[in-house]
Amino acid sequence: MAGAGYRLLMASSAARLMRRRDPSPRAVAAALRTTALGRIPAEERAWIDRIDAHRRRLPAFVASAEEGLASPRRPPSERLAEASRACQWMSLPPIWAIFLARLVRELAPRSSLELGTGFGISTAFQAAALELNGSGTLLSLDIEGMTTLAQPGLDRLGLERRAELVPGMIEDTLSTALERAAPIDYALLDADHTEAGTLTAFDAVLPRLSGGAVVVVDDINWTAGMRRAWQRIQHRERVSTTVGLRRLGIVIVSARNDSR
Ligand SMILES: C[S@@+](CC[C@H](N)C(=O)[O-])C[C@H]1O[C@@H](n2cnc3c(N)ncnc32)[C@H](O)[C@@H]1O
Repeated sequence: MAGAGYRLLMASSAARLMRRRDPSPRAVAAALRTTALGRIPAEERAWIDRIDAHRRRLPAFVASAEEGLASPRRPPSERLAEASRACQWMSLPPIWAIFLARLVRELAPRSSLELGTGFGISTAFQAAALELNGSGTLLSLDIEGMTTLAQPGLDRLGLERRAELVPGMIEDTLSTALERAAPIDYALLDADHTEAGTLTAFDAVLPRLSGGAVVVVDDINWTAGMRRAWQRIQHRERVSTTVGLRRLGIVIVSARNDSR
């Protein structure tokens, strides 16, 4: 779907949510509407420019970090081309990364969780939004090979106090991370893109969510399995509102049962 199509879908979803009284749907609506219209506050634009500059430098950094690891050794140009492809397909495209930053600004979560740091692009956008909010932290989980590549970028951007990277297989790190982060106000699920992996992650995170928390699930239409996972998530207990944006799925849980 082209950018204009996504913007139209964002705007129409925003119009539907705006009629709601509770704060989380209204915050999601405001993030969707402003992203769709390109009404990004100047201070966020400044961060977007900084992170985009980092995104452009990333392939060279990744290629040099992998120098000597490849066997048999490949020419630098080949490594760079491969790093560029990996950085592009693994990281959220700009419109969605900007939307996540808008969402974090509107929601102002105290505690956030990300499954799937990747090269740290989505992490940087969300952490920058927390930095602008002046409060809140993000725990982001990925295998050590990825957190090692993502950490220097977050350090260079000065976002290390907002985002903490947790290295290891999520199967091993999630329960401790959930204990540390609960009650969680906002989460992004962007790691295991299988039906079972997505449902397992969602079901583990769900009991640790605060009332009115928002969960974003990436790639809900990527495969038939992801479409089934998204269908099932929408019928989980506590899920009060969902918005399907072709690529991202947004879940808002009921404002009741706030464990804080
Ligand atoms: C699509 S990338 C994340 C991209 C990132 N959110 C962004 O937009 O910049 C998915 C990440 O999930 C991680 N991942 C997938 N399954 C995992 C698991 N079981 N344990 C740890 N990390 C996992 C991969 O290593 C990969 O870095």
